Amino acid sequence: MSENYIKPEIKVARKRSNRPVRNIHFAFDEKYAKLGQGLTYIIETHGCQANEADSEQMVGLLRAMGFEEARAIDEADLIIINTCAVRETAESKVYGEIGRLKKYKRLNPNLVIAIGGCMPQEEVTVERILAKHRHVDIVFGTHNLYRLPELLHRVIVDKQRVIEVFSEEGEIVENLPTIRKNRYKAWVNIMFGCDEFCTYCIVPYTRGKERSRHPDAIVEEVSKLAAQGYMEVTLLGQNVNSYGLDDPELGCDFPELLTRLKKIPIPRIRFTTSHPKDFSDRLIDVLATGGNLMPYIHLPVQSGSDSILKAMNRKYSKAQYLELVKRIKTKIPEVSLTTDIIVGFPGETEADFEATMDLVEKSGFEGAYTFIYSKREGTPAAKFPDDVPHEVKKNRLDRLNSLVNQGYALGNKRFLDNVVDVLVEGYSKTDKLILSGYTPNNKLVNFPGPESLIGKIVPVKILQAKTWSLGGEVIHEQN
Ligand code: 5AD
Ligand code: SF4
Repeated sequence: MSENYIKPEIKVARKRSNRPVRNIHFAFDEKYAKLGQGLTYIIETHGCQANEADSEQMVGLLRAMGFEEARAIDEADLIIINTCAVRETAESKVYGEIGRLKKYKRLNPNLVIAIGGCMPQEEVTVERILAKHRHVDIVFGTHNLYRLPELLHRVIVDKQRVIEVFSEEGEIVENLPTIRKNRYKAWVNIMFGCDEFCTYCIVPYTRGKERSRHPDAIVEEVSKLAAQGYMEVTLLGQNVNSYGLDDPELGCDFPELLTRLKKIPIPRIRFTTSHPKDFSDRLIDVLATGGNLMPYIHLPVQSGSDSILKAMNRKYSKAQYLELVKRIKTKIPEVSLTTDIIVGFPGETEADFEATMDLVEKSGFEGAYTFIYSKREGTPAAKFPDDVPHEVKKNRLDRLNSLVNQGYALGNKRFLDNVVDVLVEGYSKTDKLILSGYTPNNKLVNFPGPESLIGKIVPVKILQAKTWSLGGEVIHEQN
């Protein structure tokens, strides 16, 4: 059956054409409505929020097919791993997991194992699965998630092995059924793909060309969520600040989109991720109007060294980034900023790293995701000579993390004795008698309170500030 395999090609994935993006209005084919009857699934999700959102659509499709969620992995008839390709560590984890699944297949020969998401978009992944992991039944990518019912049909009914990964830029698929994991907070895609081509990053290859959803579709989705009682939406895109710029016919850029969404009665609107180069004054002005636009911005800087930023193709300098931080903080004084930083990029010297440390100190980040550079086959940086020893990279990461942790602690401390609004999500992970939730600035707060507060926004007086969380008490309970 191998002649039916559709494998990814990085050369195709790298291309960007001017071909207009196709919008597909998904309609569930009723012929698949009984395929999953009596069968159960488990989806394991790795990586970013885009993957989490995709998994919620997979669940929507599976439920439409009659599948139910399995209570435990060893009881499942279908196991889907939704993978991340951003760093090698994430990939190694998935390979370990795929290896472990073999034993379940021995126990249940009808078990269907599917690998989806970003890793299959890489040529090397598909070759490795074909060569070494015969027990994997389906390999699918980020562009054909909506075809899951048909792919499953081919495996379950036609007894085929399915490899289907499209490298083409991808469409926009509207109307996919979605079953959301969280009852109060929802992900809303506003765009797909990425055209930035930062030299270290695999995402422009795995998620295709940048394509923005129609603003009316986004407004409709957020309005529905508000009507269903959702308290918070997070708008998703690899670079939300370039929303709408790929298609002038949409007549809407990111500041304009936020202006429209702001009018919807949803208590909280967040977004991620912002690229510093597109962060306009208009956007800052819209955010400064506050209300349901939360004072929290994740603004990945990646490095504080001008030569590394240039080698990364980030299109801004350290000075420009610091200037942007200043402009944001001037207009939105209460804002919390977090960032992403890569250490040990090929050629990074001690002086380059010091420049990053200096930028972190000056920016006042209240949190950061920090990573050691991971070589991604097919990206430009994979060809850069990498002469920084791993020990040195590790040492830089440790030094950076100490500084970043001080930022976390300071960011929490500033709320001591303040009253903050907390969207209560449930009981704390560590103490079943304590409620927990997040503030507008995205700070985790734990406090004692009754179950009836779950799903509500309540004012909490902060009495304790730790490095990773705040503690306090409700000052006025709502009913
Ligand atoms: N190595 C290490 N970190 C990476 N990121 C993206 N690509 C790589 C890579 N090859 C990080 C960036 C990005 C975050 C999502 O992952 O910091 O902002
Ligand atoms: Fe990757 Fe850069 Fe696009 Fe972010 S903006 S997804 S780091 S290429």
